[in-house]
Amino acid sequence: MAGILARNEAKRRKEEAMRAINEHTITDAAIEQMASTSNPRMRQIMESLVRHLHSFAREIDLTPAEWLEGIRFLTAVGQKCTAHRQEFILLSDTLGLSALVNALHDKRASETVTKSSLLGPFYRQDAPMMSLGDSIISQSEGTEVVFYGRVIDSAGRGISDALIQVWEPDETGNYDLQKHDPSVMDLRGCFRTDSEGRYHFRGLCPLGYMIPMDGPVGDMIRAQKRHGYRPAHIHFVIGAPGYRELVTALYVGGDPHIDSDTVFGVDESLIIAVNKGDRSSPLPSLPSIRYDFRLATAKDQMSGRVGADPSQITHGVAENRA
Ligand code: BEZ
Ligand code: FE
Repeated sequence: MAGILARNEAKRRKEEAMRAINEHTITDAAIEQMASTSNPRMRQIMESLVRHLHSFAREIDLTPAEWLEGIRFLTAVGQKCTAHRQEFILLSDTLGLSALVNALHDKRASETVTKSSLLGPFYRQDAPMMSLGDSIISQSEGTEVVFYGRVIDSAGRGISDALIQVWEPDETGNYDLQKHDPSVMDLRGCFRTDSEGRYHFRGLCPLGYMIPMDGPVGDMIRAQKRHGYRPAHIHFVIGAPGYRELVTALYVGGDPHIDSDTVFGVDESLIIAVNKGDRSSPLPSLPSIRYDFRLATAKDQMSGRVGADPSQITHGVAENRA
């Protein structure tokens, strides 16, 4: 009897709250309505999102015109996305959200390993498989360097047969995905480490560049009077069975934007130097960049990729709608 009375009282209060929506009751009313979500993680995420979104609107006393401006901006971001361009990832990157998600991912590893850095909007799956020592340069021109080192575990043992995917922009600061014919691949490749975990390949000496500024994210960056540059870097995704996939990048020390990366990807531990006359390089006649990547053992199957090939994202969207 007492249970029935309590339930009736709760129902009455809920109905009353639904009829008295105001700035104080709306948050609980929205959360209450989503409480039937069967996936517990989705329920937690949406509840927290609604709480923070409502707090944000209250804190800044959001006006209807500003709300509409926000909707316009997000619409433009969506309209800029194609199979070759991911404006939402760019937005996440420039707001520091991608770097935050990377940091949270790194915190979940049990060992001290190489830090994650941004995947960015220009990763693409199906880059060509190459042999150790090959060059990833197929169309571009510039100073050639050799990248070399090892892929190791947290105890320093080499990991053989690890898959290394690399990509970098050309001498004009553009990735192949940004060019006239984005189906052509340039400055990307995949390599397997040797029996001792060693790798080496040739590429362009990394150069700094501006993030794509011809869309709504570029408008935002200009409105905020930010320079829009990324310091010179090269991207890596490294994986091996039994290890957590590492998504990272190496940054060239001395770059003028090393301390003000527009997308917050730089960590001290990822800064490298370009060396000349390095006798331990497998190709000593070329300038060289040496780095050993340390992978954590896999505790779970959780992906460390804050991003994806843009074509995979648009493909997924079409499939989900069908
Ligand atoms: C990049 O490094 O490729 C990148 C990352 C974030 C935004 C734009 C570019
Ligand atoms: Fe990049």
